[in-house]
Amino acid sequence: MAIRKIREMGDEVLNKVCKEVKFMTPRTEQLIDDMFDTMYESGGVGLAAPQVGVLKRICVIDCTGEDPILLINPEIVEASGEQTGQEGCLSVPGKAAQVTRPNYVKVRAQNIDMEWFEIEGEELLARAFCHELEHLDGHLYVEKAEGPLQDVTYDDDEEE
Ligand code: NI
Repeated sequence: MAIRKIREMGDEVLNKVCKEVKFMTPRTEQLIDDMFDTMYESGGVGLAAPQVGVLKRICVIDCTGEDPILLINPEIVEASGEQTGQEGCLSVPGKAAQVTRPNYVKVRAQNIDMEWFEIEGEELLARAFCHELEHLDGHLYVEKAEGPLQDVTYDDDEEE
């Protein structure tokens, strides 16, 4: 288990466009393992590679309590509906804001074996897909925040 340092807003690595993953390597597998470890350790529900300083198109998500999701080279292929809700980011600690997103999103991505698959999400999962994919193009949710960022307090004993 290896926890990587999470880069915070203001770090220019978060504003860069990530590169396509062309093939799987032991080094990239290690990165993915570390991303899951870092996300769980931080109590987050999603993490993108640039948040640990690596400019590769990889995200991990676990916001439903079901199987953890790995997305390599993901792209949104369908989106519909609308939801407005509170959003936060491990790279913007202690803050949250309202963001409007599609309520349904379908993503096409590659798995750990570099095989393409499609995955659908609604509500929180649709929001997570949009949020994490935007990290890969150098964008943070704060650009879409409706109103000022609000302070949030986390219970340190509770890690989800
Ligand atoms: Ni984020």
